[in-house]
Amino acid sequence: MTTISDAPLDDSSDALADSTSDASLARSLARSAQIEADLETHPERYRMLTGDRPTGHLHLGHYFGSLRNRLALQDKGVETFVLIADYQVITDRDEVDSIRERVYSLLTDYLSIGIDPQRTTVFAHSQVPALNQLMLPFLSLVTDSELRRNPTVKAEQEATGGRPMSGLMLTYPVHQAADILFCKANVVPVGKDQLPHLEQTRVVARRFDDRYGRPGDKSAPVFPAPDALLSEVPNLLGTDGTKMSKSRGNTIELRMSADDTAKVLKKAVTDSDRHITYDPVGRPEVSNLLLLASLTTGRDPRAIAEEIGDGGSGTLKKLVTESVNEYFAPMRARRAELEADAAHLREILADGNARANAVADATLAEVREAMQMVYA
Ligand code: TRP
Repeated sequence: MTTISDAPLDDSSDALADSTSDASLARSLARSAQIEADLETHPERYRMLTGDRPTGHLHLGHYFGSLRNRLALQDKGVETFVLIADYQVITDRDEVDSIRERVYSLLTDYLSIGIDPQRTTVFAHSQVPALNQLMLPFLSLVTDSELRRNPTVKAEQEATGGRPMSGLMLTYPVHQAADILFCKANVVPVGKDQLPHLEQTRVVARRFDDRYGRPGDKSAPVFPAPDALLSEVPNLLGTDGTKMSKSRGNTIELRMSADDTAKVLKKAVTDSDRHITYDPVGRPEVSNLLLLASLTTGRDPRAIAEEIGDGGSGTLKKLVTESVNEYFAPMRARRAELEADAAHLREILADGNARANAVADATLAEVREAMQMVYA
């Protein structure tokens, strides 16, 4: 008979307080490099989970910043889970229009770039009851002040201009812990901004074990502590030379036609110097177009610049348009095919949801066992 620890929560946790420091970032980067190296020889040691909010169409910033890396993990043979974070949409906003359409658009984007539903479990977290049920015991393992200190929660709260914060917003890092821990993922590819959530997830995993794990046997915790995987990604900007983001209207979406891509790139901001050079600090807009040409041709951006020479921004734009359209043509063609077959998309999502449910049910059973909440 195990006894459940009644030690109070210690929310002065150093790891959490420290999760935004430079030292913490350096540690996460070093750990990521270790994992990247180990992945080459031991993909079977890893289970990856990551996801996106279904809030808009994926663009080239997403593709080169994260999607491409997920594909690489899938193709290395790592067990992969990709989550459509539909509940997170109601965290951020009051109105949820056309959520169904957005979910399917995200799924279609994933599949068009090569996420393979045979190898990767793609699912929507609202469709996995046992995942959501994990949030309840997890909430008992965190304190409100620790959540209020979470930098993302703080930033979101500030962005709402003093409007009252919903309980879901306050606790969404715990929901994210459930997203990650339901499948016992040990690697989570994310951007730096998500590091506090990862740290919160690690704290939840550890506290669950402290409270309910087998006393005297810490060798097999119920939840392994996951690591963030911070890969090096190119700093691709929008067509105006600022951060690529839907709200700035400076994106090239994966699903755009070749013509629309040409139109957007034609309007891209450049400068008045006809001589094209790669100088990301001094000439961010021109250099960003060169980076895009580089990413889509595999060539060095400096070599591309040299070749254009005094050809000016017109030549540069023509070259980028061609290389982007050529690179994404097969994905766009696949996207059009997928879009035309709604029944097939429904089947793929239903299958992913069913697989996620099987995993979540097994985890919840273990959790109930550990908590001594099995009564039959
Ligand atoms: N919070 C993430 C974002 O805003 C999306 C997300 C939800 C996620 N659950 C996750 C990412 C679990 C990684 C792991 O982009």
